[in-house]
Amino acid sequence: MTRLTRADLDGLPSYVPGRSLADLTRELGIAEAIKLASNEVPYGPLPGVVEAVTEVMLGSHRYPDMGVVELRDALADRLGVAADRIVTGCGSVALAETLVKATCLPGDEIVYAWRSFEAYPIVAAGVGATSVRIPNTADHGHDLARMADAITERTRLVIVCNPNNPTGTGLRKAEIDRFLSRVPSDVLVVLDEAYREMVTDPDVPDAMRTYAHRPNVVVLRTMSKAWGLAGLRMGYLVAQPEVAAAIRKVLTPFSTSLVAQAAALAALRQEDEVKRRCALVVAERDRVTESLRKLGVDVPDSQANFVWLPLGDGAAAFGTACENRGVIVRAFHPDGVRVTIGTPAENDQFLAAAEAALEQPA
Ligand SMILES: Cc1ncc(COP(=O)(O)O)c(C=O)c1O
Repeated sequence: MTRLTRADLDGLPSYVPGRSLADLTRELGIAEAIKLASNEVPYGPLPGVVEAVTEVMLGSHRYPDMGVVELRDALADRLGVAADRIVTGCGSVALAETLVKATCLPGDEIVYAWRSFEAYPIVAAGVGATSVRIPNTADHGHDLARMADAITERTRLVIVCNPNNPTGTGLRKAEIDRFLSRVPSDVLVVLDEAYREMVTDPDVPDAMRTYAHRPNVVVLRTMSKAWGLAGLRMGYLVAQPEVAAAIRKVLTPFSTSLVAQAAALAALRQEDEVKRRCALVVAERDRVTESLRKLGVDVPDSQANFVWLPLGDGAAAFGTACENRGVIVRAFHPDGVRVTIGTPAENDQFLAAAEAALEQPA
């Protein structure tokens, strides 16, 4: 057959979104399944979001504001940075893709930890950049020393995921300081802080405050997790103005939709509620971690809204066993399983499934 698409994509794994509740109902006949596989916060849209979205729908036959002025101004106020340093997009994953487009030509290198967010290899391959993956340390965190060692003349981008998805580990300020001092000034460092709102360790720095002033640092954030907008797709980044301007040139036009802009503006008015919800998640995260440790699983401390079970070769069987008991988790075979923190009742359901699964996989 005539080849119509790039041959190098044949070896690229597809993004796996996690099984849906409908899948479990259809395949296993389980009606009461729960999904703890995509790291959303479980408490519904924030107050005012549905109303704000409903209101703007009357204008949905028109393009949204391409400059995203009102929302960028609101974010600028909140973050204490100039609005021209902010770029918004259709989720932070789209911005990661845009960052790669703005920095890499085919054959250029992108350094990142592995395991880390599974979209990184995909966005690298999108432009034919070479992924340089540095294995995590024995305690499941980034090996920043080896990441710095791996930077070559071909390296254009380094992605640091803090806290790391899927292991939940947080990098401390001293380690990041040391790492940044070793990165050449012509290599862009992306600090992906999708889970920043869930960080409780005071030594894990807020990159927006600590590093965003650096010329070669971009801070990436999402409103999908703590801010409850996963289904509406809104992420943003903060970069130096000239870096932001270059990124905007390759940004898909109008990619922050009318509803995403309205929803984000409404969500930003709910900071107290976001904090309240994150505190609930954090309390449950610590409870789930302790319970899993009592079951003999060596769960690393998590700074995010999920926990990592380093089950190695047992990952797939554990994932299937949980699904058979109505709990969808995310197995990354042969490394481990990531489980999103849900409501207390959902977490209890998961812990019961986990106990049974550890005793009798699948
Ligand atoms: C580390 C990390 N970065 C970015 C994203 C993308 O988030 P979104 O595209 O929903 O903004 C995720 C989502 O899971 C993530 O875990």
